Order: sequence, then structure tokens, then C-alpha cells
Amino acid sequence: MAAPQCVLITGGAGYIGSHTVLQLLLGGYKTVVIDNFDNSSQVAINRVQELAGDHAVNLTFHKMDIRNKPALEKLFASTKFDAVMHFAGLKAVGESVQKPLMYYDNNVVGTLALLEVMDAHGCKKIVFSSSATVYGWPKEVPCTEEFPLSAANPYGRTKLMIEDIFRDIYASDSGWKIIMLRYFNPVGAHPSGHIGEDPLGTPNNLMPFVQQVAVGRLPALKVFGTNYSTKDGTGVRDYIHVADLANGHLAALRKLSDPQIGCEVYNLGTGKGTSVLEMVAAFEKMSGKKIPLIIAGRRPGDAEIVYASTEKAELELNWKAEYGIEEMCRDQWNWVNKNPYGYQTK
Ligand code: NAD
Ligand code: WQD
Repeated sequence: MAAPQCVLITGGAGYIGSHTVLQLLLGGYKTVVIDNFDNSSQVAINRVQELAGDHAVNLTFHKMDIRNKPALEKLFASTKFDAVMHFAGLKAVGESVQKPLMYYDNNVVGTLALLEVMDAHGCKKIVFSSSATVYGWPKEVPCTEEFPLSAANPYGRTKLMIEDIFRDIYASDSGWKIIMLRYFNPVGAHPSGHIGEDPLGTPNNLMPFVQQVAVGRLPALKVFGTNYSTKDGTGVRDYIHVADLANGHLAALRKLSDPQIGCEVYNLGTGKGTSVLEMVAAFEKMSGKKIPLIIAGRRPGDAEIVYASTEKAELELNWKAEYGIEEMCRDQWNWVNKNPYGYQTK
């Protein structure tokens, strides 16, 4: 039997990373996780270990910043990685407008450090967390991977820059195998309710905000805009269960072994658009909690309607999202009901 593949996961203590690390462990991979806990905590790693049972022996964790090149060098010198999954990054759109240098440094400079060390050690397989944000304000939907790309804010620009860096690297050296995954709107949590999203401070995104209203940490949800040209006037997005997203990463990792693969990009979404009010209604139904609403103006920079074309991922990765919005809301509620303060005790 072949030895299990060893995967380095940057940002593996975070929301999407922790769910993916668990799936990798259960899938028989060896995992080495690095994270600086900028937006996560050791508790997430402990919970992943608990959920992984016997497979937990295949998880090694190092508290490390991806910009710390000497530390990365040491890690690559001591371990042979078959591939890297690169989740580490800052992701708050509003904060990126206030602190663009911090975003360029963390996301772009951090990725350069990682790529330089990978290159030096001959590890040239990577799955990267890109985002639907690179479609900017799409003129039509569903968004296909061929759509023109643009950035609406510094965070989005870091994703676009990193995508361009990957395309340039591949053009210079076809030995690289690169898959960039453009996530749409990840929500939900592991069905156990032991791992989930735990943003620091007041949440920016819809479902983390809703979950805090549900447990009484916030009084009401502001609905940003009710006069869009959508079914009920509120913004429409493609929400995807984080468990589906995690499985999409395993599909991408398998694809990296395809001799034909070069530098590719895939959307990870469900292909379905859901409005803010539909999402709130589904959450209320699955939680039995009333979410008080405040009708507010549009949030500056928001697109009206965004959802994915899922054809390419279905065809080439042999992956398709399985969960619907009720399952997303059920699992989001289960997580917050068990962990009203996330990974903190209060
Ligand atoms: P997250 O903040 O929960 O996870 C990111 C992790 O990276 C955190 O644990 C953080 O501590 C770590 N990190 C940040 N900078 C680091 C550094 N310099 N060195 C080491 N670790 C560092 O976010 P997430 O939702 O899990 O997102 C993961 C990736 O997916 C990010 O790159 C994000 O931009 C991208 N993405 C997220 C969404 C979303 O809505 N959640 C959508 C599209 C793309
Ligand atoms: C969804 C809908 C809001 C909060 C962001 C990033 C994007 C990507 C995913 C990383 C919109 C409405 C929200 C609230 C609301 N992240 N809303 N009240 O804007 O699609 O994308 O996260 O790559 O880059 O920009 O997600 O969850 O913020 O908003 O009414 O308190 O919910 O207007 O219609 P978005 P979101």
C-alpha cells in the first residue's frame, strides 16, 4: 500500500480550514497545520482532533505565521509535503479598506513567502482559497470561471493579485500544479456542532450575524437593502455548506494528481441564489428562533445578485454540493446553540 499523502494546511485552525483538515484526516491523509491564531484558536484544533478519533495521530500543529520564512524553511526541510492547501489570510472586506497595507502584507507577501519556500523545496502542488469576490459586480449570472475579473476592495484585490501570481508562476514553470477554488458564500458548521465559524468582534457576514442574534448577543439583523431587482428586493447570494466546501478541497487534491492538470480555477458554489429574507426564514424555521429585522439602506459596494455556475467543478472535479439552505441553517444553529460564544467560554 502506498504511504499516505502528507498535506500542509495553512490557516487550518480557521473556519473553512478546520472543516477541511477533519475531512482530510478522515480520508486517511497526514496533515500538518500551521496557523498564527490571528482569527482562530487552539480550541478549534483540539476539537478537530476529538472529532477525528483514531485519525488524530495524523495531525501535527505548529503555531506559525506564513510570513515567517525561516520557520517555513525549517518546516519544509524536516517534512516532505505532497501538496499544500493555502487558506491563511485576512478576509474582512471593511477592514481591508481601512488597513490595506495589512491586507497586502498578510495575504500577498505571506503567499509569496510560502511559494518561495515551496519552490525551493520542490513542492509544487497547491490548492488556493480564492473567492467569488474576484467577479466584482457580475453583469450576469450564473458566474462562470471565464467571466472578467475585477476587485471591489483591497481584500478582493489581494485575491486577484494572488491568482495572477499563480498564473505567472505556471507560465514560467509548467512543473507547478495549481488549483484555485473560488468559494461563494460558505455557511453552516460540522453536523456535530463542535466546530464552526467564530469570527472575532462584530460579524460582517450575514450568517455569523444571524447566529449571534439567535443567541441574544446582538439585538437585531440589519437587512442591507430591500430595493434590489430580486425576488423580494434583498440581495441574492450562493450559500454553500462548509462541509460541501471541505469535500470540494479533497476533490481538488485528487485532481492535482491528474497529469493533465496545470493551473486551473473552479467555482465552489451550489448554483442556486438565495435572498437575505429567504435565508433568515430558513434559519428561523430550523432554529425555532425569531430573528428581529431592521430594514436598512444598501451596504456600499454590495452586488445585487451573485451565484455560481457549477458545471466546471462537476465535470472536472467530479464534485457537487449536496446540502441545501435548510441543512446549512440547521447545522449553523446546532453549532451556535452548543457554542454561543464560539470557542470562548464567554
Ligand atoms: P478564517 O479567518 O476563519 O481562517 C483563516 C485562518 O488563517 C485563521 O485561522 C487565521 O488565524 C489564519 N491566518 C491569517 N493570517 C495568517 C498568517 N499570516 N499566518 C498564519 N495563519 C494566518 O477564514 P475562513 O473563512 O476559514 O477563510 C479561509 C480562506 O478562504 C481565506 O483565505 C479567505 O479569504 C478565503 N475565503 C473565505 C470566504 C468566506 O466567506 N469565509 C469566502 C471566500 C474565500
Ligand atoms: C450576504 C448578503 C448583504 C450582513 C462577502 C465578501 C466576499 C466573500 C463572502 C470572502 C448581502 C446581506 C449581510 C448583514 C445583510 N468573502 N447582509 N445584513 O457580501 O456576498 O460576500 O463574504 O471572500 O468577498 O464580500 O457576503 O455575508 O456579507 O452578505 O443584509 O448584517 O447579506 O447585503 O446581500 P457577501 P455577506
